[in-house]
Amino acid sequence: MKRLSRYRRHRLAGPVLLVFALFMIGTTFSVASATTRQSSTTLARTAAVDEGRQIFLKGCSSCHGLNAEGGSIAPSLIGVGAAAVDFQVGTGRMPMADMTVQAMRKKPAYTADQVSALAAYVASLSPGPAIPSQDVINYERDGNTAQGGELFRTNCAMCHNFAGQGGALSQGKFAPSLMQSEPTQIYEAMILGPQSMPVFSDKILTPAEKLSVIKWIKAAQDEPAHGGASLGRVGPVTEGLLIWTLGLGLLIGIAVWLATKAR
Ligand code: HEC
Ligand code: HEC
Repeated sequence: MKRLSRYRRHRLAGPVLLVFALFMIGTTFSVASATTRQSSTTLARTAAVDEGRQIFLKGCSSCHGLNAEGGSIAPSLIGVGAAAVDFQVGTGRMPMADMTVQAMRKKPAYTADQVSALAAYVASLSPGPAIPSQDVINYERDGNTAQGGELFRTNCAMCHNFAGQGGALSQGKFAPSLMQSEPTQIYEAMILGPQSMPVFSDKILTPAEKLSVIKWIKAAQDEPAHGGASLGRVGPVTEGLLIWTLGLGLLIGIAVWLATKAR
């Protein structure tokens, strides 16, 4: 104590105390604001669940039941997880339009915010597969196109066709084309296995292998259409014509030259 009081009258005592006080105010403030920020995210989450429940009651409960418990028309959604809702509603399969055929991809009926509210509501009923985060779906960085192509041919091509164009299955069912699927939806399809598609657990395809498959599908989507010369791409045709004319001209020239020599 004595030693401390000796410093009290030091020239720097004032400034040091000031800095210390400012530091304390700063940390207290950031701790306090962190707690309020945390409670406000919890609030936002409950708001999303409430909003999702309202959307659900209007758009989904007629088939899936007032509490998503399912019924004679549609299965229970308790425990299917946010990923199933994101996939089904995000690809426009749900709300189902025509119950006589397999749920089909169509223009989504809800905005991205509404889809995440619906997903939050269903996830709040019981835990299930979560929507993979953008960090997990970093296929550009962690995927390998060549490996993905190989994995696709052995695991997916028998249903979706070797180029991902889709194909018919038995009993009038079909595996859809993958040319419109977004990376998150492809990942979700693999972890969920909708309808007659098998689930590809992390033991069958590791997360890294899933990213390779996604990278290959994205590359297939970006590939230009194959086939004969299209009117839009006259380049190779004109080049071919040039070689054809020049080459033929040269051959005729040689023939004429040989003929004159032989005489
Ligand atoms: C016209 C009836 C109907 C409506 C409306 C409907 N669904 Fe469905 N839903 C079905 C049927 C039938 C299935 C099961 C067959 C299938 O997956 O194609 C299903 C399946 C699902 C699945 C997959 C369940 C699983 O086990 O993986 C989810 C998720 C889902 N629905 C969510 C929704 C949401 C969210 C809405 C509202 C936006 C909705 N559905 C509206 C009939 C409906
Ligand atoms: C036994 C056949 C079968 C196999 C094998 C299979 N799928 Fe599927 N897949 C399906 C069927 C059927 C659907 C449609 C499900 C539905 O509409 O609910 C589907 C749907 C999908 C969709 C959703 C398409 C969209 O955007 O609408 C994606 C993505 C997908 N599959 C990816 C894959 C990948 C990747 C593999 C390999 C790792 C694979 N599938 C293996 C049958 C299969």
